[in-house]
Amino acid sequence: MTTCLTALSKKRLLLGITGGVAAYKAAELARLLTQDGIDVQTVMTQSACHFVGPVTFQSLTGNPVYTDLWEANAAHTMAHINLSRNVDMILVAPASADFIARLANGMADDLLATLCLARDCPIMIAPAMNRQMWENSATKRNLSSLQNDGVKIIGPESGAQACGEMGMGRMLEASELAETVRSAFQTGDLLQGKKVLVTAGPTFEAIDAVRGIINKSSGKMGYAVARAAMEAGATVTLVSGPTCLAPPIVDKLIHVVSADDMLRAVQAEIAQTDIFISVAAVADYRVAKASQQKIKKSDKKLSIELILNPDILMTVSTLPEPPFCVGFAAETEDLEKNAEIKRRKKNLPLLVANLAQDAIGSDESALILLDDAGKHVLSKAPKMEQARQLIKHISLLYKQ
Ligand code: C5P
Repeated sequence: MTTCLTALSKKRLLLGITGGVAAYKAAELARLLTQDGIDVQTVMTQSACHFVGPVTFQSLTGNPVYTDLWEANAAHTMAHINLSRNVDMILVAPASADFIARLANGMADDLLATLCLARDCPIMIAPAMNRQMWENSATKRNLSSLQNDGVKIIGPESGAQACGEMGMGRMLEASELAETVRSAFQTGDLLQGKKVLVTAGPTFEAIDAVRGIINKSSGKMGYAVARAAMEAGATVTLVSGPTCLAPPIVDKLIHVVSADDMLRAVQAEIAQTDIFISVAAVADYRVAKASQQKIKKSDKKLSIELILNPDILMTVSTLPEPPFCVGFAAETEDLEKNAEIKRRKKNLPLLVANLAQDAIGSDESALILLDDAGKHVLSKAPKMEQARQLIKHISLLYKQ
């Protein structure tokens, strides 16, 4: 962490807090960011002040807290312009459904909304709301407008909510948000303007109307890679097989089921892709003749003929003008040797190798990055951290 601190200590962040129970997490966030050496300027909406007090943030950040457009204007000429002009980034956490609606519509009816409208720096928001508000089509419309405007959306996640319900809408934990801010400051423009296509999760190959073949991939690593690419400023398309996870907010999300579906989705996107990161655990075989009806049980043995699936990554990497291709290899033995053979066979500038028994389904992994220059070991760490390291490595190779 010491090496990052120097870079971070020159950074200024405007932390916007809007009304929601998750505002209590913003206090911890302000503490963590200040501890990193980031100069945190806090702006709170009137509703936020009902949940937590400005004094808390003033004490944690050592800076005055602004809550009112008119009060701030009296003390500082054109405070709404100056406050957001002097910062490197704005983070609104929590961002309520109401604030998201106002931001999406360019409203300037309080200090925070005005500052956001008068900004010339990047902005990230961490939504927090009840699951029904999150699922409402008005919220979806507003989030989609914000994404088109270049606003980065971090989270939310699924879990227990203050109202007692379970579902999507929980703001990410302070530590995760702090890590996202650090990463955005350090890698925020590494892939700026680049189009990244990520495949994630398993594929499902039908046997009959209700049964199928699937592997144990959780989608965690692929989703983390998509998120890290977003943080690095890329425009991200995520093609995901069936998973039980909430996908990260990306520019384009395509759900697929089988390897064939995944190949079609990838082929439709590939002409606009600069970097293709194939994290998906694609099934190597599919059932030759899947039955439309449920196969009836009988006393006899049942044989299923399997035929080879297309290799999506190799289809892309052997194109006449392929994008920069990154593969993932999960091996159970002879990790490096098998992975390097795969890298050469698939003609990849970079392949990420991991041990299947350690990585699949786990929140952590140990990775070996294999490229033309040799190997780079990333010792065991949370997948989000590994994904950020990987994106940094890709950006270095891509530039060469
Ligand atoms: O399964 P295998 O170890 O060959 O996977 C290595 C890489 O190839 C992974 O990045 C995976 O996403 C990709 N792959 C693919 N299509 C397949 C099999 C693997 O794109 N049918």
